[in-house]
Amino acid sequence: MKAAIYKKYGSPDVVQITELSKPVPADDEILIRMYFSTVNRTDTGFRSAEYFISRFWSGLFVPKYQVLGCEFAGIVESTGSNSSSFKVGDAVFGFNDQRFGGHAEYMLAKETDAMAKIPEGISLETAAAIAEGAHYALGNIRASGIQKGQTALVYGATGAIGSAAVQLLKYFGVRVVAVGNTKNIELIRNMGADVVIDYQKEDFTQWKEKYHLVFDAVGKSYFGACRPLLENNGVYISTELGKNGENVWRAVWGKITGGKRILFPIPESKKSDMEFLAARVADGSFSPVIDKTYVLDDIKEAHQYVGSGQKTGNVLIKIR
Ligand SMILES: NC(=O)c1ccc[n+]([C@@H]2O[C@H](COP(=O)([O-])OP(=O)(O)OC[C@H]3O[C@@H](n4cnc5c(N)ncnc54)[C@H](OP(=O)(O)O)[C@@H]3O)[C@@H](O)[C@H]2O)c1
Repeated sequence: MKAAIYKKYGSPDVVQITELSKPVPADDEILIRMYFSTVNRTDTGFRSAEYFISRFWSGLFVPKYQVLGCEFAGIVESTGSNSSSFKVGDAVFGFNDQRFGGHAEYMLAKETDAMAKIPEGISLETAAAIAEGAHYALGNIRASGIQKGQTALVYGATGAIGSAAVQLLKYFGVRVVAVGNTKNIELIRNMGADVVIDYQKEDFTQWKEKYHLVFDAVGKSYFGACRPLLENNGVYISTELGKNGENVWRAVWGKITGGKRILFPIPESKKSDMEFLAARVADGSFSPVIDKTYVLDDIKEAHQYVGSGQKTGNVLIKIR
């Protein structure tokens, strides 16, 4: 089968197209014929190992699993004798940041993995972009404890995480103030944001409104600047570690002090979250934003583009 592999950490140039043997499912595994995957910031983060800490999961010196692609959408080709939740021919999607594997014509999964059936009427193309950004967004929203009727500010509303956060917060009945680039104002409004701030014209940290949650989905702000925007007991969450890892140690400190504080939730990949997200796509409350589609042969360019931090929503890889 055709696959994109990386044998060492580094720039997009470490990614090569090659032929691998077609995997055979063990008793507790499922073989998926891949149609679409994405290149996302999880893939590029593991590929570059820019944060050394990622190597504790992916391999200290060289990658343990050479095929990236944590998001996938495909058709079940065969199942092991102990797998009963999915049957041959089922259309499935999911997220796997342990073994990855979506950048290949076939991948293996376990039925207990974070995956679900694609709802009726939803294309494989759309399904491939459901999981990565949205599962981070969902985990952070839940951790913040925000309630219906409260207000959240989402900075970086056009990333995979930010665009999912805006839509999911609206689903939970939260009032959303979203910050984005001039060219994307209409897109952010269409996602349901109540107020849109154009960061090229205004500095959101100067707004007088107070929020229960300030969610920096692009990791470009810092707690000191956003603290005045928080209500008493309001929380600040960022997708980045912050200067000298301050978002992590301040989160530990905030647990002791209470009041306005940073949270740094550890992301989880859960099957139940995939089922929740599938239901949101089916009822129309969440629609993944898709920027560009590359074919597998051009995957290096996709890594380059995603690594620029400029993508709008998600970047698809068409496998077949
Ligand atoms: N290390 C990991 O494993 C990992 C995994 C996932 C995510 N993350 C982090 O999570 C963050 C978000 O990732 P993502 O995939 O959702 O999105 P992304 O690829 O980082 O895209 C960011 C979006 O934010 C916008 N943006 C850029 N500069 C901005 C600014 N100064 N103010 C507001 N918006 C700005 C960009 O559009 P415009 O340029 O048009 O504004 C783009 O649409 C990143 O910081 C990423 O590193 C890390």
